[in-house]
Amino acid sequence: MFEAEGRPKSGKTVFIRSYGCQMNVYDSERMAELLKPHGYRPVDAPEAADLVILNTCHIREKAAEKVFSDLGRLKPLKEESRARGRDLTVAVAGCVAQAEGAEIQRRAPLVDLVFGPQTYHRLPELLARRERSVGAVIDTEFAAEEKFDALARDRDAPGVAAFVTVQEGCDKFCTFCVVPYTRGAEVSRSASAIENEVRSLVSKGVCDVTLLGQNVNAWRSAPANGAGLGIRANADGSWGLGQLCRHLAGLDGLQRLTFTTSHPRDMDDALIEAFATVEKLMPFLHLPVQSGSDRILAAMNRGHTAADYLAVLDRLRRTRPGIALSGDFIVGFPGETTEDFEQTLALIERVEYASAYCFKYSRRPGTPAASMGRQVAEPEKEGRLARLLSLIEAQRRIFNSRFVGECLPVLFDRPGRRNGQLVGRSPHLQSVHAVAPQSMLGKIASVRVVGASGYALSGELITAPRDQRAF
Ligand code: 5AD
Ligand code: SF4
Repeated sequence: MFEAEGRPKSGKTVFIRSYGCQMNVYDSERMAELLKPHGYRPVDAPEAADLVILNTCHIREKAAEKVFSDLGRLKPLKEESRARGRDLTVAVAGCVAQAEGAEIQRRAPLVDLVFGPQTYHRLPELLARRERSVGAVIDTEFAAEEKFDALARDRDAPGVAAFVTVQEGCDKFCTFCVVPYTRGAEVSRSASAIENEVRSLVSKGVCDVTLLGQNVNAWRSAPANGAGLGIRANADGSWGLGQLCRHLAGLDGLQRLTFTTSHPRDMDDALIEAFATVEKLMPFLHLPVQSGSDRILAAMNRGHTAADYLAVLDRLRRTRPGIALSGDFIVGFPGETTEDFEQTLALIERVEYASAYCFKYSRRPGTPAASMGRQVAEPEKEGRLARLLSLIEAQRRIFNSRFVGECLPVLFDRPGRRNGQLVGRSPHLQSVHAVAPQSMLGKIASVRVVGASGYALSGELITAPRDQRAF
């Protein structure tokens, strides 16, 4: 319940809830940082907050509707706070805010602020406007470039691993997807801005960086200032993600680099080559394909066939043998027949994934697929999803079980649930549990894998922390 005592005597408190993708997690962290100089301290329960921000996801109907049920739960809290003479401010941010704008406030009148993923850098100003006005403040402009410029360069670094947004938006217009409408066109941050952010994080102890973007491998920019020697640019003088990874890998102190999410059409030669030449680039790639049927891929407007996708994976596996592959799949896209679905299963059998995310097709208003005929019935979708999930689960187990008996460099980044245990990540991004002293937190150590399940590995610590380059 509402705990006035939970608040600090001076200053204000903010509770931010993130829904959906890692990009939202990154955005939420940036919001907390933006608010800090304005006296807001983060708290971990809405009951203790003066400001609640729901950073929303619009990708599937379930995620979008969750926001409204959470808003319903905030209503008594808001009323109670008013009765105590302290007005709880409720803000809806993220992709639902972008897609529905003022409609949110009509459906949930308790909402004071609505702002999209491109305007959260104006949050302090929006809050000031809200204090001056009587009605809700809505800001869903597209201003991604302005946002990148405004974002804090000097970030907090709460741990050893951090996300860094390098690209935002999408020009691919898959017919099922809202992202091109909610996040806008593809925009890349400059190589120098990214380098500065990574440098600052590394100076604060971060050694594991995940580069983020809705279409991260569509990232394009001029080479970083004062760099480029030894890194071959593209024919037009630009850098793509492959060159950026090579450049960032040159930073001392940075030990691990990953990126997500990629599109098969943007896997260029330089990026594939980076998996061979950039040691710090982890042997892991999340490359969604969505379906194994060319007919469905065409209806999805993916711009590639199943064979194109498999050819990219074959090249990657030749370049970095043992690379862990992950994907996204949608079952029950309009018009998907049993045969189309069987082709998806066949593609998965052929690839042998390390992990994958599987979704039932969700009809999103305003997208071309929403008005396509031959929508697949819910029970059919359920049945296909269950088959897909069990196939992926079996592949995860097989992938993980291959490591039993091997030694892996594990970056311990959090305490385990069992006493004396730490949890870390392998180079293939598997969770690894091992009994280890607290002093190992934030360090890379060698672990012998003794057990594997579909979700994690368990192991025994065999060395003191050391640099993973020794492996
Ligand atoms: N229905 C179901 N899944 C979807 N995704 C995107 N849009 C939809 C939708 N309308 C999935 C895709 C994408 C992932 C982020 O979410 O698989 O890769
Ligand atoms: Fe959505 Fe397709 Fe763009 Fe991915 S590539 S964000 S699925 S439109």
